[in-house]
Amino acid sequence: MKERGLQDASFVFVGGSAGIGLAAAREIARRGASVLLVGRDRARGEAAARAVREAGAREVAWVSADVSSAAGVAQAVEGIRAFRRAIHGLVHSAMTVSFRRATTADGFELAFGLQYLARYALNRALVGELAASGDGRIVHVGAKAPSGLVPDLEDLQFERRRWSLLPALMSSQVLGYLHVQEAAERWQGLPVTASIACVGMTKTENAMKGPWWVRAVYSLAAVRPEQSAENVVRLLTAADARHAHGAVLFDPRRFNPTPLSSLSYDAALARRTWELSEGLLRERGLSFAPIRQGGDAGAALTPP
Ligand SMILES: NC(=O)c1ccc[n+]([C@@H]2O[C@H](COP(=O)([O-])OP(=O)(O)OC[C@H]3O[C@@H](n4cnc5c(N)ncnc54)[C@H](OP(=O)(O)O)[C@@H]3O)[C@@H](O)[C@H]2O)c1
Repeated sequence: MKERGLQDASFVFVGGSAGIGLAAAREIARRGASVLLVGRDRARGEAAARAVREAGAREVAWVSADVSSAAGVAQAVEGIRAFRRAIHGLVHSAMTVSFRRATTADGFELAFGLQYLARYALNRALVGELAASGDGRIVHVGAKAPSGLVPDLEDLQFERRRWSLLPALMSSQVLGYLHVQEAAERWQGLPVTASIACVGMTKTENAMKGPWWVRAVYSLAAVRPEQSAENVVRLLTAADARHAHGAVLFDPRRFNPTPLSSLSYDAALARRTWELSEGLLRERGLSFAPIRQGGDAGAALTPP
């Protein structure tokens, strides 16, 4: 695949201090780009920053922020803007798994808050910085959701239904599909693409700290983070990524973008999800200014 030059490019990896995000960040660093990593744990972040520097990054920075809350998103955005006003790629791979229903500091169900709403908020806040690069690329690291699964917009927090882990994770995945589909619709004309790279079971350090049965299954069936990161890297480096805009790559072993609009997700549902997310964030002090090209377009952030 023909690649674009990355010597003067800057990339942000939210959840890039471990696992698939870190594997992708190192590959991008190898091409001489500048990299900013976002995560919570300082020791892990600093070790990851060292690894990215050793891989060849031109410049490396690390920002500590818990993006599962509106205040944490605002903190991350501040750190990212202090690093660069033009960014060529924004990768989302932050994940924490809880085997019991857990909530974020803002009171959202954890998978919803971290694996969906944080991505929505960061993309909305940083779309101007992405556009300012002239070719900004958003990549969600995701998972394949069962076809036909529709999130319950009346009960996104699993308060009326019984919570269980897999439905919560899958609901956040489909919300991400709807977000990327709607972003492709709303951001037509901006030099920004948004895509989802699905991965399967991946032997990350965190996964290997899970319960014994997770470790047993992963030891047998999971792949290395570098393998799961391959499509993420392709989406960031391809000379032209427009054909992957608003698309999902289901198979991590092949670069085969499927337009989300062809998967019969309802356009009205995608619009409603967008508006609902906007409202939830507004209630928590995050609102977004209209997009202006040339950077400085993003969020008017008022951390709670
Ligand atoms: N691994 C798999 O088997 C698998 C399978 C399917 C899909 N996926 C998808 O792949 C993506 C990456 O997974 P992974 O296995 O690479 O994850 P991972 O190894 O557990 O790494 C997660 C990263 O996210 C950061 N993080 C966690 N919570 C955060 C928060 N609240 N705010 C900011 N950063 C946070 C972690 O650092 P700190 O803890 O220091 O914050 C770490 O850098 C996820 O989106 C997941 O849905 C993974």
